[in-house]
Amino acid sequence: MFTSLVKVAAASCLFQTALARIANRESSNLTSTNVSVASSCGLNWSDAAALQTRFIDNKKYGCKCYAGEACWPSISKWAQLNQTVEGSLIVNIPPGAACHNTFNGPLGTVNTYNAAECTKAINNWSDETWTVEQPAAAIWTYFTNDTCRPTTDATKPCTLGYYGVYVIKATKAAHIKAGVDFARKNNVRLIVRNTGHDFIGRSTGFGTLIINTHSFQNIQWFNNFNNTGISAVTIGAGVQGRTILTQGHAQNPPLVVVTGECPTVGIAGGFIQGGGHGPWTTLKGFSADNVLSFDVILANGEYATANAHQNTGLFWALKGGGPASYAVILTVTMRTYRDEVSSGATLYINATQPGFRPDLWEQGLTSFHKYSNHFVDNGLYVYFELFSMFLRARPFVGIGKTATELQAVIQPLLDELDAAGVVYEFNLKQFPTFFDLYNDLFEAEDAGASSITGGWMFNHNDVATNNNGIMQAFKTVMTPRADLFGVMIGHLFNPGHNVPVTNSATHPAWRNATNFVITVLSVPDGATPAVKADLQNILTNTMDEALRQASGSGCTYVNEADPYQANWGDRFWGSAAYARLKTIRSKYDPLGIFYAIATPGTEDWTVLEGGTKLCKKL
Ligand SMILES: Cc1cc2nc3c(=O)[nH]c(=O)nc-3n(C[C@H](O)[C@H](O)[C@H](O)COP(=O)(O)OP(=O)(O)OC[C@H]3O[C@@H](n4cnc5c(N)ncnc54)[C@H](O)[C@@H]3O)c2cc1C
Ligand SMILES: *[C@@H]1O[C@H](CO)[C@@H](O)[C@H](O)[C@H]1NC(C)=O
Ligand SMILES: *[C@@H]1O[C@H](CO)[C@@H](O)[C@H](O)[C@H]1NC(C)=O
Ligand SMILES: *[C@@H]1O[C@H](CO)[C@@H](O)[C@H](O)[C@H]1NC(C)=O
Ligand SMILES: *[C@@H]1O[C@H](CO)[C@@H](O)[C@H](O)[C@H]1NC(C)=O
Ligand SMILES: *[C@@H]1O[C@H](CO)[C@@H](O)[C@H](O)[C@H]1NC(C)=O
Ligand SMILES: *[C@@H]1O[C@H](CO)[C@@H](O)[C@H](O)[C@H]1NC(C)=O
Ligand SMILES: *[C@@H]1O[C@H](CO)[C@@H](O)[C@H](O)[C@H]1NC(C)=O
Ligand SMILES: *[C@@H]1O[C@H](CO)[C@@H](O)[C@H](O)[C@H]1NC(C)=O
Ligand SMILES: *[C@@H]1O[C@H](CO)[C@@H](O)[C@H](O)[C@H]1NC(C)=O
Repeated sequence: MFTSLVKVAAASCLFQTALARIANRESSNLTSTNVSVASSCGLNWSDAAALQTRFIDNKKYGCKCYAGEACWPSISKWAQLNQTVEGSLIVNIPPGAACHNTFNGPLGTVNTYNAAECTKAINNWSDETWTVEQPAAAIWTYFTNDTCRPTTDATKPCTLGYYGVYVIKATKAAHIKAGVDFARKNNVRLIVRNTGHDFIGRSTGFGTLIINTHSFQNIQWFNNFNNTGISAVTIGAGVQGRTILTQGHAQNPPLVVVTGECPTVGIAGGFIQGGGHGPWTTLKGFSADNVLSFDVILANGEYATANAHQNTGLFWALKGGGPASYAVILTVTMRTYRDEVSSGATLYINATQPGFRPDLWEQGLTSFHKYSNHFVDNGLYVYFELFSMFLRARPFVGIGKTATELQAVIQPLLDELDAAGVVYEFNLKQFPTFFDLYNDLFEAEDAGASSITGGWMFNHNDVATNNNGIMQAFKTVMTPRADLFGVMIGHLFNPGHNVPVTNSATHPAWRNATNFVITVLSVPDGATPAVKADLQNILTNTMDEALRQASGSGCTYVNEADPYQANWGDRFWGSAAYARLKTIRSKYDPLGIFYAIATPGTEDWTVLEGGTKLCKKL
């Protein structure tokens, strides 16, 4: 009996194949290829280069290889890679370099000054769309080490900072595969960069080879996906929120998918691998809850499909288990929904209002937050910005609600504000569709700022039993120290409102969420390492700690949280899911071809030597 079991296992391993549908941008179609799947057989890593052994402070590490070291691939190897990727390999030059005389990079010094390009960089530095279009720029610049910002003083140095050395501007799946293969075979640190929205620097990294996925704009709609009767859309790796919603609106009838609130955030990249929350989340769960299938490239260079039938562990892990950890996603297929009549509202309580009552501002905020359970229990999503004497709740989103219905949900809050004498401005409007609401009420966000970010989730119980404690914590965040000023971005949603149990890797505690709040602390230009360490300490141990103390949720969001907090695995996923994610990571990426801070299985990895060398403790 024992032998026959072994035979069956071997047979299923030998004959297993996966139908990997590989997005081919040029034909804007999906071509099918059969590729051998290794998931149940154990992947073959025999062509991977070994880590470089280094001793740092008497400790032994295995490190990635960096320019200037003997292990760094030769010029001819890079030229070969460039051929494989059909000329799409470029030397990365930081986006502000045109304002500097030279870029002093690891491959030498390049003259970069260009007055016209410099003017563009200065004028567009805070423009998200421009930043996304750059080969490797980060929207939040802190984790580039704030190198090479645009300037009017061209003599200022421009160095690599924490950027990559080369970028593949991939236009075909085969280019992505070539980049993964090259990184694996040469022990070069690899970064996948989609839109550059990541708050904690996970789409940049010192000395890396970057694969830019922005050109993968393929979108295909299905009435009956794979004969399941489910209406769905297959979305290429580079597609952003506004694009998919705009195309969905053009369908007959108009369709939506669960995207983020931000029009420029990607869908198939870091967003969905973190879970992905947005205006539809209270009604339809996280974006990840809506995934039917992924097409990916594994760390060993194989194409694979992950869904409820194939590579099921990988499928689960890609749905919220952390970005850049298991595979490079080529496409995601998600459920679609019919768009609906929707109503939106805005509420402002701020110091520039005529008759503003500073003494009543806190009371206004307290009332607003007290009703947050009520809002999400009525199916709403609310986005708000908050700092001292400033509350901007824009918008309240009532999908499927008429103006009268939304007004009825919000009225108890307005009555309470009126009774207390709080001065506020409130507007409410009905839209033919959610898409119309989205275009009217969600605002563009700025790029180019240097800040550190954290965040925490408050659940129903926190709000029901400790709203005043939460308000005290908010005050700590807004003024963490006499000389500092903190900002919050709040999101009222509950992915468990209609989807109490799912098969996603997201933390189970989300299914009773009420408010997920991001904390932001700005970092001054030219901050020294000591200043940065001081601010990080304030964010971790004063601001976010105050939020944690006011909450029993135990949960925060991997994409919008402090990666330096203790117990991040438990807090991002819960201990059971975390253990399973680590097992899946060790199967699909045991060598650490991928790396993003505070993701499953990265405990032994650290970035040494001033944030430059990625090394594993041996
Ligand atoms: C202005 C703004 C608004 C936001 N709004 C929301 C929101 O409404 N809801 C929400 O949930 N989040 C939101 N976020 C956070 C967002 O989820 C993260 O920034 C997320 O990392 C963005 O993913 P990306 O692929 O667009 O960005 P990138 O920065 O390009 O990538 C992020 C991470 O994903 C990895 N990655 C990218 N593409 C792939 C791929 N194809 N395969 C494997 N790994 C990949 C990268 O290596 C990196 O680790 C917002 C962020 C910003 C800056
Ligand atoms: C995509 O493939 C299908 C099936 O092979 C074919 O009918 C269709 O014409 C192709 N579309 C494009 C744009 O190539
Ligand atoms: C994939 O393999 C199966 C079985 O080996 C075969 O029947 C099928 O035609 C192949 N499909 C493609 C697209 O090569
Ligand atoms: C792994 O791949 C190498 C080629 O890269 C091959 O020589 C070797 O036989 C493979 N090992 C197994 C167990 O399949
Ligand atoms: C890659 O090839 C293209 C086209 O030949 C060329 O323009 C580009 O400079 C090359 N990249 C590198 C890094 O040499
Ligand atoms: C960038 O700035 C220039 C002015 O220098 C402007 O003409 C252009 O429209 C801007 N581009 C974007 C994408 O905003
Ligand atoms: C990063 O910035 C710090 C200043 O905070 C500087 O001391 C350090 O040299 C920079 N490192 C790199 C690699 O740019
Ligand atoms: C389509 O359905 C088949 C049969 O159920 C399944 O094996 C396959 O993985 C599915 N493909 C996708 C992309 O969902
Ligand atoms: C402050 O409130 C006023 C009046 O209600 C509003 O018009 C304005 O947009 C608010 N300011 C900001 C920056 O939100
Ligand atoms: C959600 O929180 C409420 C209020 O504390 C509680 O009554 C309810 O049982 C919780 N639901 C879940 C699924 O935990």
